[in-house]
Amino acid sequence: MNFDLTMLTQLRQARDVVVFTGAGVSQESGIPTFRDAMTGMWERFDPTDLATPDAFKRQPDVVWGWYESRRVIVLRCQPNPAHHAIAAMQTKVPRLTLITQNVDDLHERSGSIGVIHLHGSLHHPRCLACARPHMLPPELPELAPEGQPIKPPRCTHCGGTVRPGVVWFGEPLTDDDWGPAKQAIRSCDALLSIGTSSVVYPAAVLPFEAAERGAGVVQINPQPTDLDAVARYNLHGKAGELLPQLVQALWPSSP
Ligand code: OAD
Repeated sequence: MNFDLTMLTQLRQARDVVVFTGAGVSQESGIPTFRDAMTGMWERFDPTDLATPDAFKRQPDVVWGWYESRRVIVLRCQPNPAHHAIAAMQTKVPRLTLITQNVDDLHERSGSIGVIHLHGSLHHPRCLACARPHMLPPELPELAPEGQPIKPPRCTHCGGTVRPGVVWFGEPLTDDDWGPAKQAIRSCDALLSIGTSSVVYPAAVLPFEAAERGAGVVQINPQPTDLDAVARYNLHGKAGELLPQLVQALWPSSP
């Protein structure tokens, strides 16, 4: 792809970059995006029916089974060239803050560090009662191909019910994540928004706030989103294809 030369210059000169990712960055790893159709036994559910505290209270086995099925999918997938390109960028930019809405660990597995998971993680469940982290067994659970309800584990410390370590609809983002994310937006001179539909708040506000401050916002998404209107550059394509090309164009000697 021939990138806009002004955009390349601005990104090369940027000292403080935020990379903001959504499910689209993991799509080419084989992980369905949040708004992809659900499959198997989950087909009859809408994600928003399952990703709530009330859903877990009413049907903990179904909700825990859904998150376990997603965790198994993630652990069977590998980071794709988009993840690796972002990790490479982090070694080139003086300060790069990676903020993700994703609950998979593909950014970490491709070498990115200091990842801010605004919506939590599939890999860090915790006790509903005492909030202590719960260690999941290293071996993957044997799941029915179409998925199945699974009884959530019990906390080894207090015996309480273990819940997924993700932020559910209706729950606040944790200050430990939201604070550093807002700080990064206040100081960045460029932001790349990659693979997000830009519809879920408060996370979705971050690229708009960066643009409002005059930071150069570059969006990568095959589809247009609300962010198109304020992004300085809209690159309509797949992250796994465009990002490696962008990194190569920015730093031609990159390995
Ligand atoms: P969505 O499923 O809403 O959007 C995925 C976006 O990725 C869409 O805009 C696609 O066009 C784009 N996309 C698909 N394939 C792509 C590719 N190969 N390269 C680049 N982009 C691609 O997922 P999110 O925007 O991440 O929150 O959803 C945000 C939040 O909504 C999720 O974190 C979740 C959900 O509510 C919670 O669970 C709290």
